Amino acid sequence: MKTAADEGRPKAPFYFRFPHWIILAVLSFVLLGPYPLYAGILVISVLVVCTSVLRKQCFARITEDFTPEYNEVCHEDKVEHFKSLAGVESSDEGLKKMGKFRLLDLGCGAGANLMYYPDNAVVIAVDYNPSMETFFRARLKRLEMEPQLERFLVTSALDLKDIESGSVDVVSTCMLLNYLEDYDLFFAEVLRVLAPGGKYYFWEHVLDPNPRSLLRASQWFLEPIVTRCADGAHLIKETAIEFESRRHLFQDLSLRHFYIYPHAHMSAATKFFVWFLQSANICGVALKNMR
Ligand SMILES: C[S@@+](CC[C@H](N)C(=O)[O-])C[C@H]1O[C@@H](n2cnc3c(N)ncnc32)[C@H](O)[C@@H]1O
Repeated sequence: MKTAADEGRPKAPFYFRFPHWIILAVLSFVLLGPYPLYAGILVISVLVVCTSVLRKQCFARITEDFTPEYNEVCHEDKVEHFKSLAGVESSDEGLKKMGKFRLLDLGCGAGANLMYYPDNAVVIAVDYNPSMETFFRARLKRLEMEPQLERFLVTSALDLKDIESGSVDVVSTCMLLNYLEDYDLFFAEVLRVLAPGGKYYFWEHVLDPNPRSLLRASQWFLEPIVTRCADGAHLIKETAIEFESRRHLFQDLSLRHFYIYPHAHMSAATKFFVWFLQSANICGVALKNMR
């Protein structure tokens, strides 16, 4: 039904009734060929890379999509890595009575490691990218299992002021340290929140230690692009050195180097990521002193 305001209003020519950008797009496609379209895609890509919020959302989506294939690549290694979580006893009397323990997942992303945590883990998840929370919670729900989520904190792993000192039995990080700049602060926070005798499980991709490998060359070559696109991640960190130089801070430190390889049936993206960026890894466990 027409309103009073519509009465007598002259009708605009048909080409003004379309959104202008459609006319512009069609006209430029007819007159100039597909190049404006390419330019548009390029401009949008640049915007995505440059705009922090969009970049964080895109990166969360990519992390979510990459997680199943990455876990398939690493499944046996991850099972082995997290195996000893089964024997962890909590220093918190309340949790201990229930047979549970508290695990802090720093840089939890889309929850890739939830399936490797035992049922009696009570998880505090931390990620500074707020877009990760939805994916993390959805994966936890899909697993339809414990571990139970105590809290999801959107904060930096370098600033854990919301977590009480000595309140965590296990800290777990997976592909987090390649983002960090201040390792002294990071290790100080990990040691602060860990209870005496608590364990720190780490897993990182690193700069390939083999000086003549194609992987190492591609890591150096792609470093500036990846750092920009992957929300600040680095490919050329020698994280093993960071751990070794802090061995004295822990009662014990086990660390091993290993390589991972994509499976033949996997997507080209996974093959590229794993072969050219993330094939060289370290993992291990650091044990905090009892005192
Ligand atoms: C490569 S993803 C790994 C995610 C997950 N741990 C996994 O194994 O799939 C790294 C994650 O660490 C988060 N991150 C990077 N720097 C961080 C920081 N300083 N504090 C908290 N989270 C951080 C990123 O937002 C991202 O979710």
